[in-house]
Amino acid sequence: MSGKLATEYSAWQKLQQIYDSEHGKLVLKDLFAQDPQRFSKFSREYTSSEDPSVTFLLDFSKNLITEPILATLLDLVREADVETVRDKMFAGEHINTSEDRAVLHVALRNFDEFKISEAGVDEVGKVLAHIKEFTESVRSGAWKGYTGKTINTIVNIGIGGSDLGPVMVTEALKPYAKRDLTAHFVSNIDGTHLAETLRVCDPETTLFIIASKTFTTQETITNAESARDWFLASAKDKAHVAKHFVALSTNTKAVTAFGISEANMFQFWDWVGGRYSLWSAIGLSIALVIGYDNFEQLLKGAHGMDKHFKTAPLEKNLPVLLAVLGIWYNDFYGAQTHALLPYDQYLHKFADYFQQGDMESNGKSITKSGKRVNYQTGPIIWGAAGTNGQHSFYQLVHQGTKLIPADFLAPATTHNPIANSKHHRILLSNFFAQPEALAFGKTEDEVRKELGPNASDPLVKSKIFEGNRPSNSIIFPLLTPATLGALIALYEHKIFTQGVVWGINSFDQMGVELGKVLAKNILKQLDKPEDVTGHDSSTTGLIHYYQKWRKE
Ligand code: F6P
Repeated sequence: MSGKLATEYSAWQKLQQIYDSEHGKLVLKDLFAQDPQRFSKFSREYTSSEDPSVTFLLDFSKNLITEPILATLLDLVREADVETVRDKMFAGEHINTSEDRAVLHVALRNFDEFKISEAGVDEVGKVLAHIKEFTESVRSGAWKGYTGKTINTIVNIGIGGSDLGPVMVTEALKPYAKRDLTAHFVSNIDGTHLAETLRVCDPETTLFIIASKTFTTQETITNAESARDWFLASAKDKAHVAKHFVALSTNTKAVTAFGISEANMFQFWDWVGGRYSLWSAIGLSIALVIGYDNFEQLLKGAHGMDKHFKTAPLEKNLPVLLAVLGIWYNDFYGAQTHALLPYDQYLHKFADYFQQGDMESNGKSITKSGKRVNYQTGPIIWGAAGTNGQHSFYQLVHQGTKLIPADFLAPATTHNPIANSKHHRILLSNFFAQPEALAFGKTEDEVRKELGPNASDPLVKSKIFEGNRPSNSIIFPLLTPATLGALIALYEHKIFTQGVVWGINSFDQMGVELGKVLAKNILKQLDKPEDVTGHDSSTTGLIHYYQKWRKE
């Protein structure tokens, strides 16, 4: 950490000069025409040193870059000391400075390879063994509910990182799921979420997993208490809670106060950030759904990417490459957003997951040394599974006024080869076509040729695609647990790299606090109009309107 603003780096200033003098000349069509080697120069194949079946291709040739631009972007990474901070993270130094904490999600999937000295790291294996034993007992039917029936439903109650990772991964790895174990995820404080879930649950066969790092999160604790009330309405005896409620947390005191015994608690540590916690005990629901061995494969896939990130030279380092491309558009082209577009239905929650992963990490405007940044930090992350997005928002991506860098992801092989994989070939033809259309567009000449001499000018103009819209493509053989682990870790380290270049702390989340405090205060004022004090006229007016109309 240099303490500098990113704009003070000489590489940043050089990039600004390059952008000012060259960006108008960076035309993908010309860059490809001028260099037949462009694809091989700007694509990299990743293969895990742990497991050769974990492999994928990153093609970043359809970006508005040249070799000197890429070299300067990598100089920026060097100048910002990303490699030093990375090594500090892996060594367990307290790089989360505002909270004085280590950042060690990499220790959760380390299998004793990197030497990390931080309290709790030596307990990771013990917790994994607990997860293994418990998941095997539930999945085999040995774990019984209070009436002796086998558990066939799990309900994970958590929010943010204690929900999104398990939701995304269990969706992504459905082909590996135990199909007779139904998993639900309740996150929203809106009672509708819990009520609609409990409607299809049977208290005799349902296991509740209360997932909360702090065990103080209002949404989770309120949902957990209501779930316990619902359970006890049938089970009656509080002693039965032990068979139907387990906790994933760092807060033993609050867990036992809730009524869950320590034996049914799966521990993790303050050095696991919420949005990086699916690798920890928070992944219990994942292990229950896909089995412990597959969960371990997920961890191993991520570990392979950790080793790559820690050792590969910057020119070949995939997370670093994704990071600098993002910085190029975010900070020099003024792009506000970044789209994640998986052409795999199983990855339909991927963008939702990285909305928290990226935006809670890098949505900061003060550097670690307390300075206000004078540049853009984290982008808005969004996206949806292809081809659905093509029939909703791609119009704007192709012909709108905004530059939207995008990552396209797809598996070469599907888990569901119905109709002789006809669906998958159609899906992949779209995966290949969209980045091509974005990059190369369609010229006026091409449109005129297509429409003939009588076409009106406005019609011709409306059908022109300017192109020159950048994207990355990532293609992998099959979405396996290990490949998914590697892909998630790829993006985690991309976010890390960008955070270091921007000089911000990617590992706290102070920005979610104010709303929570105000809501607690307002909650006390909701019953009577005369209690509503201390607000602006808008907030007061809204609360008064609610009080006029509420029925209960
Ligand atoms: O949204 C804020 C946050 O602290 C996230 O970082 C975290 O993932 C989420 O709340 C849930 O926190 P907990 O696991 O402590 O309930």
